[in-house]
Amino acid sequence: MKIEVRFTPAMIESNSDVRERTAVVIDTLRATSTIVAALMAGAREVIPVATAADAAAVAHRLGTERTLLCGERASLRIEGFDLGNSPAEYTSEVVGGKTLVLTTTNGTQALLKAQHARRVLCGALLNARAVAEEIVAGGEDDVVLICAGTYGRFSFEDTLAAGAIVEAVAEFATSSVALDDGARASVVLFDRERHDLRSALARGDHGAALAELGFAHDLDFCARLDIESAPVPALIGSTIRLAEVRESR
Ligand code: MLT
Repeated sequence: MKIEVRFTPAMIESNSDVRERTAVVIDTLRATSTIVAALMAGAREVIPVATAADAAAVAHRLGTERTLLCGERASLRIEGFDLGNSPAEYTSEVVGGKTLVLTTTNGTQALLKAQHARRVLCGALLNARAVAEEIVAGGEDDVVLICAGTYGRFSFEDTLAAGAIVEAVAEFATSSVALDDGARASVVLFDRERHDLRSALARGDHGAALAELGFAHDLDFCARLDIESAPVPALIGSTIRLAEVRESR
């Protein structure tokens, strides 16, 4: 199996960079962690879209009684939306059974960029081992991890989650795993920071900015590694749902 890490979505230059491959999109702070939280809380599905206007149009088409408008710009809830991008908002009382239409600055854009991959999974620290198990159980042989980054730039926390996933894939795989330099560097970074991921997240540019804005509790949540029964969200068509649970899991 071959596994590569792209540190920003710009490193995916065209659809042919993902076609025929399994893509794992990572936005530790906070979009993919929020998607994990939403599915754990019983949301029916998450539909990632590019803009607030697209979100409103999709919600209107699906019917506003079963949908919630979700997302952020500059990390804050978009005016008129039901929810922002803080996983703490995604409780079962609020999102249970609902379709969530989500637009975020970096994470949902990276998901849309990956959408032509053979398979698209959502990764975070929360579900790193579960994603790795899904990859290995699925017999995937060509995997690219795409870090959402922050405003187009390298992100410390996305690279940490990429390292956690690569390390777990190498542990579970029954045949050899070939890493590219991005994957090697991610594993080194994760190994260096694994003893205190909360503090690593707080040192990162986006983590520090979120704490400044009053979202320090999101760092507590998103820094947790391999939470129990972590779901593996998968983008199928235009909709994110729970990935098929493989027999071997
Ligand atoms: C994003 O997708 O751009 C991020 O999740 C931003 C945020 O932390 O809200």
